[in-house]
Amino acid sequence: MRIGVLTSGGDCPGLNAVIRSVVHRGTDVHGDEILGIEDGFLGLIEGRARPVSHDDVTGLLTLGGTILGSARVQRERINWAVDNCERLAADLGIDALIAIGGEGTLTAAKMFSDAGLPVVGVPKTIDNDIDATDMTFGFDTAVHVATEAIDRLKTTAESHQRVMVVELMGRHTGWITLTAGMAAGAHGILIPEKPFDIEAVSRMIEERFQRGKKFAIIAVAEGAKPAPGTLRFDHGEVDQFGHQTFGGIGNRLAGELESILGKEARPVILGHTQRGGTPTALDRVLATRFGWHAVEAVHKGAFGHFTALRGTDIELVPVAEAVTQLKTVPPDRWAESEAVL
Ligand code: F6P
Repeated sequence: MRIGVLTSGGDCPGLNAVIRSVVHRGTDVHGDEILGIEDGFLGLIEGRARPVSHDDVTGLLTLGGTILGSARVQRERINWAVDNCERLAADLGIDALIAIGGEGTLTAAKMFSDAGLPVVGVPKTIDNDIDATDMTFGFDTAVHVATEAIDRLKTTAESHQRVMVVELMGRHTGWITLTAGMAAGAHGILIPEKPFDIEAVSRMIEERFQRGKKFAIIAVAEGAKPAPGTLRFDHGEVDQFGHQTFGGIGNRLAGELESILGKEARPVILGHTQRGGTPTALDRVLATRFGWHAVEAVHKGAFGHFTALRGTDIELVPVAEAVTQLKTVPPDRWAESEAVL
């Protein structure tokens, strides 16, 4: 078979490990030809692709980013591509497509699949917010980066008796903030699912200093928001790809805490460092397993499905289940983090 593979949306550690695994399983075991489509769905639309051989994927297991490139594509162009998908696939000569990406990519994959293109999805995102899979690859790496950063901030915060506000990625969900915050022992964990009260946060820090502690670390997700009727803060508008832009909650929170508490408060925005670099061992293995199962799914004809981690097994699940809703942090998980503050 000739299988197209593309990576779409924001990059994520482990994308290259999936591509490597797809090539190994496809070429070595099934005698497939793997065609790497460049820059996600943009390459499909523009007919840009190249064969990817066993030699091309040497060394990819540990390499961050994606050798195929990635791009965001406007919804109108996706709609056009869906209407023309059979011709686009025929132009590239592919029998099936493996689409690796987050919620937007899997939504597009479902549209292509519904329109008749044989597609298998592979879920990726550092945000870990894809429903119907216990985890996405990239998340563990992001949590490690964020945890190490908070660990490092503690010593400098204590030396200067400061409050440090660490802003972490997570547009709509607080998985990275919750997990890294717990792992590093942050004193406040603020996530989009649980709007915060600035007065309660400052009271908690004040009490901590009164107990003789000399610093405080607040981990805040970029999409966290103040509870209605508390701090006034607007996140940005929606961009041309339909994604919410963010208004800098870390900066705003640090400024506000400094004026309420009369103590130095510094914002630290980790941003894309959470997405770059080599994947952790866990992400390398998960990405490799997803790639293996995606090729098997193609050969079983399980189109319109995606590879999902369920417990310790990889299962093929209808892609519709991944895109109906985001996987948010449930209240009991947040409550567990509150207990350790
Ligand atoms: O991949 C998801 C994510 O990391 C979000 O947490 C973040 O808001 C977004 O991507 C930023 O992506 P970009 O800067 O590439 O638009």
